[in-house]
Amino acid sequence: GLPRRVTVYEVGPRDGLQAEATTVPVEIKAEYCRRLIGAGISTLEITSFVSPRWVPQLADAEVLLDRLRTEGVLDTDGLRSVVLTPNARGLARAIAAGAREIAVFVSATETFARRNLNSTVAEALADASRVIAGARAAGIAVRGYISMCFGDPWEGRVSPREVVAIARQLLEMGCAGISLGDTIGVATPGHVLALLDELGRAGIAADRLAVHFHDTYGQALANVLSALEYGITEFDSSAGGLGRCPYAEGATGNLATEDLVWMLHGLGIDTGIDLEELVRTSMWMSTHVGHPPVSPVVAALTSG
Ligand code: HMG
Ligand code: MG
Repeated sequence: GLPRRVTVYEVGPRDGLQAEATTVPVEIKAEYCRRLIGAGISTLEITSFVSPRWVPQLADAEVLLDRLRTEGVLDTDGLRSVVLTPNARGLARAIAAGAREIAVFVSATETFARRNLNSTVAEALADASRVIAGARAAGIAVRGYISMCFGDPWEGRVSPREVVAIARQLLEMGCAGISLGDTIGVATPGHVLALLDELGRAGIAADRLAVHFHDTYGQALANVLSALEYGITEFDSSAGGLGRCPYAEGATGNLATEDLVWMLHGLGIDTGIDLEELVRTSMWMSTHVGHPPVSPVVAALTSG
């Protein structure tokens, strides 16, 4: 049967805001994080310590994290907070700002490794291994992201075997878990199950895995359902459907957290999230990014 409770891993402040044309002021980002937590989000990806030349929208990572730390937000009961770090420089910045958990990110394909990290897959894994070792030595847990797990706009379909090989390496390097990224939203439920089965055959259990669906082709919820039935209990999503990937053409936003929560609650699965408060937060944020939320559930709950 389905689990009674799952983890909603909220990526709006990071995956969402990294891709918006408007750079949101840091005090609005801090308020966004506080409001998401107030709506019951208990796993929150806050920002990235990447090159500000590559992602100017998140150039204020230090200021934001430091503010949340000094205001006690990072110490909220039961809160798991995460920041992205691409390299040793990013890790040092994150530690100095008081990060509690980090995430490294690599690509399953060579083209995207070049476009997103300016490296090969092998170089990206070598960088990740140094970052993971440094974080572990500082007592910080690490999440590992793999991008383009299903398909890549330049290389086409990605075979489950390639993803398994990378997942295995990241776990051996010391990642606590792996998030399987469908960066451009091309996955369909059968492909999701094929990848999860292949990971399972390689001895990688469902409790080490999360799924990260973008909703470009409208398949994200179907994919979530097949992952749920397989036994996955951690789902990445972005409040209001904010975000796309700036380095992957045609990739639209993440699955909206509201759409995810509507389905989970409908299945009788507890998330700890207050959907109405979350919708209010996304409506408020939409005034700062300058476009309405991209979520049928938000649209339905705010119409009339
Ligand atoms: P590079 O240009 O090859 O590296 O970029 P570099 O070493 O030549 O550095 C370029 C400049 O950035 C230098 O500054 C460095 O000092 C600086 P300059 O001398 O030109 O003034 N720099 C840094 N500054 C601050 N913090 C750092 C840092 N590192 C270098 N950590 C690099 C290589 C990895 C830095 C770059 O490619 C990068 O930052 N990439 C990140 C791109 C990114 O954030 N993508 C989005 C996140 S991944 C994603 O969204 C997918 C995901 O959601 C899952 C999915 O959907 O699949 C996770
Ligand atoms: Mg993403």
